[in-house]
Amino acid sequence: MVHHNPPSRKPHDWVPPVPAFSAKIDGPVTMAYYGVQDRAGTGATIAEFQSWISSLADGVEAPDVVEFADYTDERDFYTWVAMLYWRDRSESFARWQSRPDHDAFWLSSERESGDAGYFREVFHVPNERLETLYSDQSMSVGSGAGLGSHDGPIQSHNYWGSMRDRIPGSSSDDYAGGFQLTHQPQAQTAGLGERVIASGIENLATIRSGELYDGLEGREKEVYEAELEPSVREGMRYLRDNPVASGCLSCRHMDETTGAGERIPRAFAVAHFDTLTRLEDWSESHPTHLRIFGRFVELAQELRGNVRLRLWHEVVVTRASMQHFEYVNCHPLTGFLPYSPTLTVLTPTR
Ligand code: HEM
Repeated sequence: MVHHNPPSRKPHDWVPPVPAFSAKIDGPVTMAYYGVQDRAGTGATIAEFQSWISSLADGVEAPDVVEFADYTDERDFYTWVAMLYWRDRSESFARWQSRPDHDAFWLSSERESGDAGYFREVFHVPNERLETLYSDQSMSVGSGAGLGSHDGPIQSHNYWGSMRDRIPGSSSDDYAGGFQLTHQPQAQTAGLGERVIASGIENLATIRSGELYDGLEGREKEVYEAELEPSVREGMRYLRDNPVASGCLSCRHMDETTGAGERIPRAFAVAHFDTLTRLEDWSESHPTHLRIFGRFVELAQELRGNVRLRLWHEVVVTRASMQHFEYVNCHPLTGFLPYSPTLTVLTPTR
């Protein structure tokens, strides 16, 4: 297929106002989100899930990066998620997920009933469909966690359109065509009491965008708490609740935790858009993001670069064939269930 590509919007002789860096990642990345949805609110199933996933963080084909977070979903259910990354090892996930200690829990029929739901959303991302951005050279989080030092300062950032420019494949693919979000989430029949495979979404654009806010003091803490954090919260709620207007299929605003569920001073959102264009549109036109974007740059200048708040994001654009979405006993509005073109119910057989 021949694609027409928009030219880069980088201004001539561009000098970014603040520095930024990109992770040194040359190969493919697999990102797997494993979640538990606690509809009983007792926490019992969460603890069991936590010890299972923590045991899988070690041993054969263990992931390179293991992070955890929680959020309250669109139906007000507490949800806890483990985020696992494998870098440069395209076969590793397949071998890891066939470990007996994976299947003993994941495939058990016990998962298919009761007051807890389980899901996994997995993305196999070739390098040319990935970009990362870190405001600090040594941040250890997300795809680039544990790599030590990132590349940069880079030039292609801080102008609208720079995210697209940083995705290597964007020079030959505009990532248009595929899925168009045109309806409110609909509770399809599949969900509770079932194990469902939801088909992928062509050219889905996914962002995980976060803040590390440990050690903020004085003016910076004040600006973060009074201006930045509330604006992000408002922006993420807008995305979660306005799919048709925004093109956002799912937005989860999360707080990071330890493997045992205790909060740590890191927050982020994972949002999935029907096209990369609609993610760009939100970031450059929604008042909430314009406010935080402008305020962060001002703050960095006001503090002469001595900012403790650290920002980062990773963006991937994946083909349907690079995705695997599975929901076990989840409510029907969970994740991609309301939008996937095809839902295949595996068990129990109806
Ligand atoms: C405290 C929270 C946030 C702040 C202070 C912030 C600020 C910024 C800044 C300064 C940039 C420019 C980065 C660069 O190129 O150097 C940026 C880019 C961007 N942000 Fe945020 N952001 C925040 C949260 C978010 C969230 C939660 C999302 C979406 C879920 C998001 C979406 C984007 C996108 C898509 C871009 C790239 C735009 C482009 O290059 O075309 N941001 N943000």
